[in-house]
Amino acid sequence: MTEPKQRQKVLIRSAAIKKRVREVAQQIANDYKGESVHLIGVLKGACIFLSDLVREIELETSIDFIAVASYGKGKESSGQVRLLKDLDSNIAGRNVILVEDILDTGLTLSYLLRILRQRKPKTLRVAALLDKPSRRKVNVTGDYIGFSIPDEFVVGYGLDYAERFRNLKDVCILGPHA
Ligand code: IMP
Ligand code: MG
Repeated sequence: MTEPKQRQKVLIRSAAIKKRVREVAQQIANDYKGESVHLIGVLKGACIFLSDLVREIELETSIDFIAVASYGKGKESSGQVRLLKDLDSNIAGRNVILVEDILDTGLTLSYLLRILRQRKPKTLRVAALLDKPSRRKVNVTGDYIGFSIPDEFVVGYGLDYAERFRNLKDVCILGPHA
């Protein structure tokens, strides 16, 4: 079924994503040489990025997931972040990399960093596939960024609009008729 694709404008092709994910993984492997890393994916948007990223990291790794609600069913942030699913395991003393699909206002990230820091990880860094720096409302940055993008609402490669389009292989700008 190709119908959904026709309504979206491709911003980043899957081949470019694949290449960049490998580069980010190599950067992580260099930075944590000889150590293990614990990746925490922020559900649901980061699940595809995390799945691809972890397979390219040549270190000892483990994964966990956390779920928050920040956006409702539309494009606008509620400004409020709610914890929907907590981690399965303790992160004290571990090298934690929080894996996000996109950094937008930064509200979700600053909330997550606050609660994770309280649990005393050895190190805490952020990997995000996408970054929209022009939208930032709070001062947070990612340590590993796939792509910096303009202020457009994007879908695909895990990112959704009202739970749709997560399965697109490319990152696409949401068309006006979606
Ligand atoms: P923030 O709290 O405003 O930084 O928003 C972070 C979350 O909002 C992301 O993890 C996404 O789930 C969602 N989000 C922000 N921008 C987009 C977008 O362009 N497309 C799809 N989801 C987005
Ligand atoms: Mg979302």
